[in-house]
Amino acid sequence: MPYFSFHHSEPTRKKSAQAEFFTTLVHKMKVLIATEKPFAKVAVDGIREVVEGAGYELALLEKYTDKQQLLDAVADAEALIIRSDIVDAAVLDAAKKLKIVVRAGAGYDNIDLDAATSHGVVAMNTPGQNSNAVAELALGLMVFAVRNLYNGTSGTELKGKKLGIHAFGNVGRNVARIAQGFGMDVYAYDAYCPDEAMTAANVHPLHSAEELYKTCDIVSLHIPATAETKNSINHDLVNLMPKGGVLVNTARKEVIDEEGLITLMQERTDLKYMTDIMPVADAKFRTLFEGRYFATPKKMGAQTAEANINAGIAAAKQIVDFIQNGNTRFQVNK
Ligand code: 3PG
Repeated sequence: MPYFSFHHSEPTRKKSAQAEFFTTLVHKMKVLIATEKPFAKVAVDGIREVVEGAGYELALLEKYTDKQQLLDAVADAEALIIRSDIVDAAVLDAAKKLKIVVRAGAGYDNIDLDAATSHGVVAMNTPGQNSNAVAELALGLMVFAVRNLYNGTSGTELKGKKLGIHAFGNVGRNVARIAQGFGMDVYAYDAYCPDEAMTAANVHPLHSAEELYKTCDIVSLHIPATAETKNSINHDLVNLMPKGGVLVNTARKEVIDEEGLITLMQERTDLKYMTDIMPVADAKFRTLFEGRYFATPKKMGAQTAEANINAGIAAAKQIVDFIQNGNTRFQVNK
């Protein structure tokens, strides 16, 4: 029941002004979770606790199949939590009240940052929150590869093998830690990371991608998809790998020059490609490279309850901290 009412004798004009004031007073800021690939329920519960605890309203759009569903859902949202969901100019145009979008995860190549800026929307990510999950999956793909996709034949072990980590960020560092537990000899190349950060983690720093691929039996990709990295994992680079090389991709499909890799895997029947991001040419890879190629049906790296809780709740807290205190620490469109 509303806590005040209007006197019927008041002029309508005044009444509507009061009604407007009342609406503003009781308006709850709306936070929308829009996830084509849903979070675990326990993570949504945690997000709800943070959002409702701050006095905001939580709306949920999961497993949408049509972009129009997203366009409709964002219309009255002031804050948006997404995963790999595309937030482009059309979504931002439809989201007339949007102040902030948080990508619950690391890579934000799915957000049109320039469009966000021109719409006055702050874009953030939640770095590190899901990196252990992705790293565990990368190691899982490595075991799967060296055990011949569990086809019953005799495989090899990870112990003693040289692992190359291509980009030593949050996921790369977790991969190094877990791989050392397997007894692997770990190398890394990252143009933006100082050698000391690698040596402190008992990882051998290398100084070019070429050196990494030449040195390592298995290479695990952890580079973001940027103008610089797109199609950069190409025929000539992967061809530097020693006999029996395995390429593991838990990063982005766009970094692979798919046609180049297909040509190379036809030339070199010793190479394997394991990916958590289905290539555009998946059907071709599957037909040509049975037993040497595997792709998850849907990107699964960050699909754990723990990663969903960590990244989802971090996103919700960042929204509250931004709205209440103006904290822009994790803003990526500065
Ligand atoms: C990330 O960038 O955080 C990972 O690729 C996970 O993406 P997802 O949230 O779509 O699973």
